[in-house]
Amino acid sequence: MIRQAIIPLAGLGTRLLPLTSVFAKELLPINGKPGIEYILDECLDAGIKEIIFIISNKKKIIKKYFYNDKFYKKIINKKKDQRIIKEYKKIKNLKKIIKFVYQNEPKGTGDAVLKTKNIIKDNFFLMLLPDDLIIKRNCSKDMISIHNKKKCSIMASMKVKRKTVNRWGIYSKKKKINQNNFYIKDVIEKPDIKSAPSNNAVIGRYILPKKIFDKLKNQKKGKGEEIHITDAIRRLITDGDKFIAHNFKGKYLDCGTMEGYIKSSLEISKI
Ligand code: G1P
Repeated sequence: MIRQAIIPLAGLGTRLLPLTSVFAKELLPINGKPGIEYILDECLDAGIKEIIFIISNKKKIIKKYFYNDKFYKKIINKKKDQRIIKEYKKIKNLKKIIKFVYQNEPKGTGDAVLKTKNIIKDNFFLMLLPDDLIIKRNCSKDMISIHNKKKCSIMASMKVKRKTVNRWGIYSKKKKINQNNFYIKDVIEKPDIKSAPSNNAVIGRYILPKKIFDKLKNQKKGKGEEIHITDAIRRLITDGDKFIAHNFKGKYLDCGTMEGYIKSSLEISKI
C-alpha cells in the first residue's frame, strides 16, 4: 500500500523570476488556486494519508500558508464569509497530514529525497515534482493501482521532442507489459541528443522503494553538480530492481517555466 507522498519544494524557481524573487513558485496561483493545491488534491484523491514537504528556510512561506490559523480566525470572527470558511477548513485539514523537512542547500532532487529517510515507513512511497501538473486524469492514482498489481517501482513518462532530451531523465525500454507500461532497461539524467537512448522522458511522478535511501546516502554528484534521483534509480536498476515506465493518460502542464506557467492557467480555466 502506498500511504506516504513526498514533495520536493526547496528549489529556487529561477526559471520563473521575477515572480519567485520574494515568493514561492508553488504558491503562485494557477487559475485562482496555488499550484501546490492541485498536487495535494491529486495525492488525497489517490488515497495518500501523509504528505512530506521538503522546504528550505528561504521557502518557509509555504509552511506559513498552512499555519496561518490566527489570521483566519480573526477574519472569520469579523465576517462570516462562507467562501473563506470553506477555504480555511480545507487548509486546516491539509495541515493535519503535512510534515515538513528541510533542505537548506539546493543540492538536487536526490539530496531532497534523502532528507525524508527517517519519516518513510513503508517499503514504497510516492514522489510528486510540483512543477509537473497532470490534469484530466489522476496519474498518481493510476500508478498506485499498477504498483498494487506489480509490486515494483514506477515512473510517469511521455514522449518528448528529440531536440529537448537534454531537459529530462530519458529511459530505454526492456520489455513491454501492455500499451502504456514498460519495464525500464536504463535511465539517464538529461543526456545530450547524441547519447540519448530514446525520446521517452520521465515526468515528475515516481513510486520509489525505501531502499533508494541506501543508494542516495553515497550518491555522487551528476549533471550540473547536483545529486539526482535519476542516478540513484539507475543504480537500483543495475542491481536488478524493477522499474516500470507508465505513459500517463492525462494532459501534462509544465509549470516550472514562464511560458508553461502562463499556459497552465489557460488550460485549467477551460476544464
Ligand atoms: C527532474 C528530473 C528529470 C525529470 C524531470 C521531470 O528534472 O531530474 O529526470 O525528467 O524532473 O519534470 P528538473 O525538472 O528538476 O530539472
